[in-house]
Amino acid sequence: MDNTKKLLDQIKIGPRTAQNRFFIQAMECNAEDESGNPSEKTTQRYVELAKGGAGLISLEAITVTRESRARDNQLTIMPPNETALKEFCRRVHEANPKTLLVFQLTHSGEISNPEFSKRVTPNPLPGYGGELLTEEDVERIMDSFVTAAEIAYRAGADGIDMKLSHGYLGCQMIRPHNDRDWKYGGSWENRSRFAFELIERIRKAVPDENFLIGSKISAWEGFPGGFGTEGPHSPIMDMTEVIKLVKGLEERGASFIIQSAGSPSITVSLTQVDRHIPYYAYLHQYWAKEIRKALKPETVVIGSNFSPFGSGKNGLCAVTPEESNLLNYGTWCLNDNVCDMIGLGRQSFADPYLPAKLAEGKEDEIKYCLLCDRCLELLIQQSKVGCCAYDKSAHEELVRTRKEKGNLTIHHT
Ligand SMILES: Cc1cc2nc3c(=O)[nH]c(=O)nc-3n(C[C@H](O)[C@H](O)[C@H](O)COP(=O)(O)O)c2cc1C
Ligand code: SF4
Repeated sequence: MDNTKKLLDQIKIGPRTAQNRFFIQAMECNAEDESGNPSEKTTQRYVELAKGGAGLISLEAITVTRESRARDNQLTIMPPNETALKEFCRRVHEANPKTLLVFQLTHSGEISNPEFSKRVTPNPLPGYGGELLTEEDVERIMDSFVTAAEIAYRAGADGIDMKLSHGYLGCQMIRPHNDRDWKYGGSWENRSRFAFELIERIRKAVPDENFLIGSKISAWEGFPGGFGTEGPHSPIMDMTEVIKLVKGLEERGASFIIQSAGSPSITVSLTQVDRHIPYYAYLHQYWAKEIRKALKPETVVIGSNFSPFGSGKNGLCAVTPEESNLLNYGTWCLNDNVCDMIGLGRQSFADPYLPAKLAEGKEDEIKYCLLCDRCLELLIQQSKVGCCAYDKSAHEELVRTRKEKGNLTIHHT
């Protein structure tokens, strides 16, 4: 498997250098304290990931306001959280000073959980809804993103991912369904205003180029009017606005784009492909490659949904396990200019040490994700999340959750 060593090549992201081509995806664990500060459990998880040697790690979705949020115990980035976040960054960097750490800033908007927070929306979707946002509300939300970016910078993060994916507020603003007649809706110019003005404001507030700015985007949300469709009432895939979005972000200083898809509250298996349809992962590589083709070579494109490839025993037909295992297929994606970095989501729960094991020639010791999606079940049930296959405490959490909350009856976040 010598060719897989390419996964260990360094790569420049803006003026910074990631030590290898592994990116740890943002993975919500819902394990914080009542103020949204990182718990010891959370900190330990990122310390392990840093020791595991990935070039770039994304912190799970961290909300810029507690008022509207998706998880009960969600990480929060508001002025009272700064001290705790500083200590968190110190410990992660101490575990591995070479690993870069970015924070994924988010606002849940219409998919905030009404049981403990307020739903707000640019334009309600059937079955969701919430208070209609005014232009003044949007100004205030943008202020809270800028404040959050400044806190991230002072706390010692290496950058931010301005989340525009997965049906959260950034995505709700840019999708064609936001056809309301207002400053932030209707034409592409209006719908992209939130994303484009926000990145400009963040760069202005943190002018240090070493502080990386990027964004995770959903190339196709997969429902009528979702992002990546041809119009407000059509589910048909259309990459035109996706390409306009990533180019517009690049022009305004984004040095990395994380390709994703779907909206887990609506089309969950598009975001994380499940084990019955492993071949849907190939769609992600198509979207990543289209984005890669559109951007400058120096803008780093990070691909997603590599966990389904695993050890090669992945249910994929018409390929050999030797070809289709994660390491080999990921290498092929780098060689074929599909993407520049390989995102690991569920796989990072299963084995935070994958990059280090590859570097040390211990590929045989890698624990591969089984795609059982029990971690996702924990997230949907608002329990503490972990890998139920390899982590005893996560397995116990699953048993307790099923006993207290019953078996899962819905399959969306
Ligand atoms: C339990 C769980 C939590 C997740 N939390 C986040 C998150 O905080 N932010 C995000 O952008 N995506 C989140 N995702 C999606 C992943 O980052 C990733 O895009 C997806 O799982 C596909 O990658 P994979 O095949 O490597 O798992 C989450 C997925 C799972 C299963
Ligand atoms: S719980 Fe299942 S899907 Fe989640 S990381 Fe572990 S093996 Fe993978």
